[in-house]
Amino acid sequence: MAIRIEDQNLLFHLQTDHTSYIFHVMENGELGQVYYGKRVHAKPSYDNLTTKEWHNAAAVWRQDHKDVQPQVLKQEYASLGKGDFRYPAYQVTQENGSRITEFKYESYKLVDGKQRLAGLPSSFDDNDDDAQTLTIALRDKLLGLVLHLNYTIFPHQDVIIRSAEFQNQGDEKLTLNAAASAQLDLPDSDYDFIQFSGAWARERHMIRTHLRSGVQSISSLRGTSSHQQNPFVMLARPNTDDANGSVFGFNLVYSGNFADQVQVDQYDASRMLVGINPEEFAWNLKPGEKFQTPEAVLSYTDQGMNQLSQQMGTFYQDHLVNQKFAHVERPTLINNWEATFMDFDEDKLLSFATTAKKLGLEMFVLDDGWFGHRNNDDSSLGDWFVNEPKFPSGFDTFANKIHELGLKFGLWFEPEMISIDSELYKAHPDWLINAPGRHASPERQQFVLDMTRPEVVDYLFDAMSKIIDLTKLDYIKWDMNRNITETYSSQLSAADQLEMPHRYILGVYQLYDRLVKAYPNVLFESCSSGGGRFDLGMMYYAPQAWTSDDTDAVERMLIQFGTSYGYPQAMMGAHVSAVPNDQVGRITSLKTRANVAYFGDFGYELDITKMSAEEQQQVKDQVAFYKAHRKLFQFGKFYRIDNPFENGGNVMSWEVVSDDKQHAIAGRYQILNRPNIGYLRLYVEGLDPDTKYTVNGGSEEFYGDELMNAGLFVSDILHETRGTDKSADFNSNLFVIDAVK
Ligand code: DGJ
Repeated sequence: MAIRIEDQNLLFHLQTDHTSYIFHVMENGELGQVYYGKRVHAKPSYDNLTTKEWHNAAAVWRQDHKDVQPQVLKQEYASLGKGDFRYPAYQVTQENGSRITEFKYESYKLVDGKQRLAGLPSSFDDNDDDAQTLTIALRDKLLGLVLHLNYTIFPHQDVIIRSAEFQNQGDEKLTLNAAASAQLDLPDSDYDFIQFSGAWARERHMIRTHLRSGVQSISSLRGTSSHQQNPFVMLARPNTDDANGSVFGFNLVYSGNFADQVQVDQYDASRMLVGINPEEFAWNLKPGEKFQTPEAVLSYTDQGMNQLSQQMGTFYQDHLVNQKFAHVERPTLINNWEATFMDFDEDKLLSFATTAKKLGLEMFVLDDGWFGHRNNDDSSLGDWFVNEPKFPSGFDTFANKIHELGLKFGLWFEPEMISIDSELYKAHPDWLINAPGRHASPERQQFVLDMTRPEVVDYLFDAMSKIIDLTKLDYIKWDMNRNITETYSSQLSAADQLEMPHRYILGVYQLYDRLVKAYPNVLFESCSSGGGRFDLGMMYYAPQAWTSDDTDAVERMLIQFGTSYGYPQAMMGAHVSAVPNDQVGRITSLKTRANVAYFGDFGYELDITKMSAEEQQQVKDQVAFYKAHRKLFQFGKFYRIDNPFENGGNVMSWEVVSDDKQHAIAGRYQILNRPNIGYLRLYVEGLDPDTKYTVNGGSEEFYGDELMNAGLFVSDILHETRGTDKSADFNSNLFVIDAVK
């Protein structure tokens, strides 16, 4: 499959293994969208799809071209103010105040492969996976402004990457007030808009609404992608579900303010826009300057949402995530946060680490509270040197002891933050983000560093490097516990202040980039009060993220299920914590907590030293079980089976299947038990219909088609708990399915 170009008709057909994306140059010299969806045959032209009809009451391109009516045309990257009237993809303000532009097609360039973007996280094709990149150059002659629309196809994952670059080749100062990464005009609006929304501790719950006339959008203005909305969205036909049907997926390789918007117009056509949020954004383009948008990821399938998640997930692991770690099994870990918060000393931590080693865990992660004089959240952010009273024999000695136990050593940082009570604030009060003459709003008693300043990035790189070198660190948990308020940078001119939100995130990316390059063996896990920055921009540097601060098994089912639509399970940090749970006070069994956490990067964050011998044995067995199936849990094909966001949400099930279909593990979870229920079955997916399998090591053999179509009997839960003091609520079962050799 490839990008096919019909030079005579200026028609561009981007063909992937199963999809076609077609656009062309219209009579007015602008780009028109022709088709995106299931793959169709290549032809020199698609006259039927580009037929125009005259509509009453519409601005026309020219008197002698009355059928060229911008408001009816499907456009590729729409302008403002030339008769389209839908939301534009971009907006340019000129020195005279005009916002009118006319970008006309000039040329194209087609190359094999995909180059990384400078300064931004982006896709790549390091292993020659047949990617091709097409750049269309358009020019506004009056302004000397050049627009490059970039398209890369990754044919085997059915993914198209889009971005735009503006180059000011004229001689006046221009301002970009909006610059989407991608626009997609679809001919009808019979779609459901599916978004993943929530709040701190209940991130990425699935919400599905049918499109209606007007605008539906999700966005962030918090300086992060946010807990509240995630940049990943889908447009699905109403009858599409996880197993069947037609669906488009959109994501953005970006971690700052974003907007995903779909607009249904008077003709019931839909326009999707994905990119940096135009609110709180402007970028000044002096003569000779350029602006590059982040990349948008587009994908389509007619095989349901499981297929969409799988193909996008494979694409991320192969073409976006740091390849040093993308396909490497992630270590099991013990994190001290929920066990100790900031109240710990060296002995307590070493006893955790020693017990963790005995139970088979592989990494000890020291969370917040190890630096400056930090003993609660009112101090020391920015002081990235060791809290000496907590580590009297030295931090290097402590780290050595962890390594000598045979464990990896991981450490928490919150690089972008500053406390008023810190050495850093005493030395550099002006590094704290605040607007002139205003009171800076605290959140969790902390403030944000101005990451637009190169000296801040330098300071953080040096301070973090010292600790990484001293402790021979294996892993960093990079946290970010508040949003940005009083957005302003004292080093930017008044006219450049709206560049601040984007420049902030560019500073964060720069620090990540420098650290990842300087310390290629350090595994990064991103975090933002749990899942507040769970996005592809972060994943480029940090291959996994802390999914949520909510570690309750029932809440995590919803959070991980919702997250799985947009992100593969190897990206999700998932830990077993203590009960009653710290976030919701719920008591669930150790078994159910592990059964949920297995489907991610597994670990514990509770005081394992205080567990009974019986519980410790259970943990040891769980760790051994996870390690035996780790590849499957982290990298197996993920299938959602029973959706907890539908049908009352009492039952949820999911499954991982190995690429060769020889092994699978399904998890079935039931929140409340019910009396006197009928027979229950679990219908697994993704197996080979003709292969024979056993389930949980039993003697009966089942064909794959039987397990998938006739289902697997799920026994009455009460028989497990009757006569014990255990609750039958919050129950869960795993089904380990192995091909018969
Ligand atoms: C928020 C994170 O999500 C937690 O896991 C923990 O690291 C705390 N911050 C520490 O302050």
